[in-house]
Order: sequence, then C-alpha cells, then structure tokens
Amino acid sequence: MARIIGFFVGLGFVGVLLFSLVVNGLDYFRNPPEPTAAHEFHKHPRDAELPSAGMMGKFDRAQLQRGFQVYKEVCSACHSLKYVSFYQLHDLGYSEAEVKAIANQWATEVPSINPDTGEAATRKALVSDRFPSPYANETAARAANNNALPPDLSLITEAREDGPNYVYSLITGYADQAGYKNDKGEELLKKFPDAATPQGLYFNPYFANLNIAMPPPLAADGQVTYADGTVATKDQMAKDIAAFLTWTAEPTLERRHSAGWAVLLFLAIATGLAYLSYRNIWAEAKRKVAPRGPLDPENKARMDAAKAESGIAG
Ligand code: HEC
Repeated sequence: MARIIGFFVGLGFVGVLLFSLVVNGLDYFRNPPEPTAAHEFHKHPRDAELPSAGMMGKFDRAQLQRGFQVYKEVCSACHSLKYVSFYQLHDLGYSEAEVKAIANQWATEVPSINPDTGEAATRKALVSDRFPSPYANETAARAANNNALPPDLSLITEAREDGPNYVYSLITGYADQAGYKNDKGEELLKKFPDAATPQGLYFNPYFANLNIAMPPPLAADGQVTYADGTVATKDQMAKDIAAFLTWTAEPTLERRHSAGWAVLLFLAIATGLAYLSYRNIWAEAKRKVAPRGPLDPENKARMDAAKAESGIAG
C-alpha cells in the first residue's frame, strides 16, 4: 500500500515539474526577452597582435618598457598596481640604478608614520614597495571620478575575458554615439532611443554596458614621448600598455610557455619509450615462426619422425 501511495506522490511531483516546464517554455517563446542595447551593440575585442599571445608567445622587453612608460605617465594618475613591486621592473630590463631612480621619483608617495610624532605621513617609495594607489582610499577615489572606482590594474588582463585584447580595444574604442551603427548597420539611438549615454559617462562599445566612467585616457598621438624613439600613436600606446598589463598579471608567462613545450617533448619521448618496451615485452608471444623454418611445427614433426626412423638420438 505504502508503495502505491509513494508512486502516486512521485508521479504528482513529476507532473507538476513537467507542467511548469511546458508553461514557462511556451511563455519564453511567445514573449521572448526584450533585446537590450548592451546585448546588440557590444563589441568583442579586436586583436592587439601582442607578441605574448599564443602558445609560443614571448614578451618584447622594449614594448614592456614603453607600456610601463604609458602607465607611469598616464594611467597611474588614477589606477594603482598594488600587486606589483618596483623591484620587479628588473624583469623589463631596467638596471638596478634605474629601478631605484624610478621608485625614488614616483609621483605618489607611500603612506608611512612619522617616527617622531607617530602621526600619519608619507615617504618616498623604495624599491621594495608596491606601486602605491594615487588615492588615500576608495571614498577619495570615487570623489575624484564622478563616483566611479578606477580598478587596480595588476590583474585586469586576467580578470576580463580576452584581457590583453580587451584593454587595447577599450582604450582605443571610444566612439561618437550619435549615428553609431553596429555590424548589422542598425543605428543605436534609432533602435534604443533611451540608451543615450548619461551625463558624465563616455560611450565605448567595448565596455560591457557601453557607457564607461573613464574619460578617454589616450586622447592624442604623441601623448607620451617614448625613450626608444618609437612613434607614439594612440594605437601604439594602447598596444604597449596592453602588453605591460599582460606582464603585470602574469610575469612568468614565458616560463609557463616554455615549460609547456618541455612537457610536450617529455611526453613524446616517454610515448616512444613506452612503445618500445611494449614491443619488447610482447616479443616472445607475438614472434612469427617462419614457415618451413626449423621451428615450423610441421617441419619439426617431420624431422622428428625421420630422426626416430633412422635411430638418431636428440
Ligand atoms: C582620470 C582617471 C583615469 C585615468 C587617467 C585612467 N583611467 Fe582607467 N578607469 C578610470 C575609471 C573611473 C574607471 C572605472 C570605469 C567604470 O567603472 O565605468 C576605469 C576603468 C578602467 C578599466 C576597467 C574597465 C572594466 O572593464 O571594468 C581599465 C582596463 C582601465 N581603466 C585602463 C586604463 C588604462 C590602461 C589607462 C592608461 C592608459 C587608464 N585606465 C587611465 C579612470 C581612469
């Protein structure tokens, strides 16, 4: 009896689930979700063609230095790099003296305590410090940026999908919203008249919701004068900063790539050895007896018979 009741209770549950699935499924197809401006006009990042991309990717040290220069002269006014220390700049090819000078001359000082009075103070950055935040805290950062918070950039290329290309595309992707069309030729403000960029934000189709609080940081060619003489177009600067932020997020990228190749080589050799030992182990069982040779069973039987007949031993 209990079994039968249990069966019907279970049937009831399954029935209710099926009913709600069918009802909601029909509703989804009858009233499909409203298309949104962000969904239809958002763009996927363009390829920055960075040398670090791909399985064999390596950093271009000169490019990393240029990217660092862009960070230092432009982005560091608003963005911190709190997981990167000055001493790591050695990796980019700067000498010890150069790294010391960079830390010593860094525009933002590091929070500290006055040893005589115990009061809060600031001091010049040391090689062992992390890159300091330009703002005292989040409140100050928001106050200076129209209530938006400039995120720490140390890991941004890992935190966003297709990070290096995203940073490059975002920085170069600001556009005029009036008359802006997507790839299908639809005009944003005609299709979504309510999607006009609010006061204080900037239209950028690479940003998830199309309107970003960051003013275009690279406004003109030549904003930075590169020490190595490379022409600083906006595109070049954006590529360089994307390369630099790829390095800050994964300074050991090159080691990972070469370790990958070493592992593949090892696996290839190990596979070869495994195959040879397989052949060795099965050699006896799989040996083919040459037909008509001395080991051929028929030949052997005939030879044995002949030996027995003529009385030869062995
Ligand atoms: C004037 C201040 C300012 C400067 C200079 C600046 N940014 Fe920003 N940045 C912001 C603010 C504010 C945000 C937050 C935007 C938002 O949430 O809408 C932001 C956000 C970002 C984001 C994150 C976007 C996302 O997907 O969340 C990246 C990446 C970025 N900035 C890169 C840079 C780079 C690279 C530079 C230098 C070339 C730079 N920024 C210079 C203020 C600045």
